[in-house]
Amino acid sequence: MAQLDVQIAGLSLRNPVMPAAGPPGWNGDAMGACAEGGAGAIVSKTVSVLPAQAPTPNMAQIPGGFLNTELWSELPVEQFIAQEYPVARKTGLPLIISLGYTAGDITDLAPRVRPFADALELSTHYIGDDPSPMVQAIQAAKAAVDVPVFVKLSPFRDMRAAAQAAAEAGADGIVAVNSFGPCLGVDVETGRMLMGSRDGYGWLSGPALKPLALRCVFDVARSTSIPIIGVGGISNGVDAIEFLMVGASAVGVCTAAILRGPQVFGKIVAEMNAWLDSHGYASIAEIRGLALRHLDERAFRTSHVPPDLDVETCTGCGRCEVSCVYDAIHVVSKKAVLSRERCAGCGLCVTRCPVRALTLL
Ligand SMILES: Cc1cc2nc3c(=O)[nH]c(=O)nc-3n(C[C@H](O)[C@H](O)[C@H](O)COP(=O)(O)O)c2cc1C
Repeated sequence: MAQLDVQIAGLSLRNPVMPAAGPPGWNGDAMGACAEGGAGAIVSKTVSVLPAQAPTPNMAQIPGGFLNTELWSELPVEQFIAQEYPVARKTGLPLIISLGYTAGDITDLAPRVRPFADALELSTHYIGDDPSPMVQAIQAAKAAVDVPVFVKLSPFRDMRAAAQAAAEAGADGIVAVNSFGPCLGVDVETGRMLMGSRDGYGWLSGPALKPLALRCVFDVARSTSIPIIGVGGISNGVDAIEFLMVGASAVGVCTAAILRGPQVFGKIVAEMNAWLDSHGYASIAEIRGLALRHLDERAFRTSHVPPDLDVETCTGCGRCEVSCVYDAIHVVSKKAVLSRERCAGCGLCVTRCPVRALTLL
């Protein structure tokens, strides 16, 4: 059993997996279900001064991802204060309360939610790409309350500049990233946009977002030392491990929790534990930032280096052969045979081999 508990910005978490702000924390009972499902902390749906008026429809599953135009909570903050946060607090888990958006909004909201908050998370989703409104919102939160303040970045910013500005403004941690957009989806059967927003725009989340989210976390980790909660396309334990390896201390999950229910948190935790055990790691601390450290060690090569092929391990499935555009690998008598002369060293076969018979370090 690997050590999965984590300290982040002064919060003690039993494990590093939590809901990302959104439908998994839309009310008190939902937040309770996240705790029962195995989350290490609770993050509530973003509230602002006025309830949102979200268009209908506002969520759609698409191949490889998910679109939403859900905005912030349609429930008033008064209801969260009177009913929802007290229920969430009964879980005993750290409660991170998500607020939006401007400095004025935060000055109003932060002291009102403070009695329930172990930390605040400030959404920057609707305040543009200029860091100034974010900086002002962080300063407003820090002036208003004494709990840690996380700032959640959207992926269309200059992540390094935004992260540095956030840290300088006093943020205690960064959540990266929010959904990406605007994007579009069409239902060809009706000829209508999938999203009911005025222009049909929606924001992308789920697996399609993960490579972008990883790059964002990586950039943030390289530009600040404050802790990061990595969010974007996490569906399983190995996804979460990837985020830790590029510098996150904990992870948030939204789309997978919508699609598979709140038990997904515990499943991801169990998968992380199994992965760490099977790879000989005793704690998540051992893998945090590993990919950043290896990047510094890696030689930058432009020569065509072929992969190593372990013939014993090869099952002759032929996946490498079918996608080798250089015609450098063929399955002969149920074993892959690699032409080192023809190989262009692209590495695709390494990522397609289901048994890791091909490796390229
Ligand atoms: C339906 C939906 C509603 C969301 N609402 C919020 C929100 O209120 N506040 C916020 O900061 N992020 C919100 N998000 C963004 C998620 O917290 C998360 O950053 C994003 O979806 C990427 O993570 P995922 O791929 O695990 O979903 C929402 C996402 C979805 C899909």
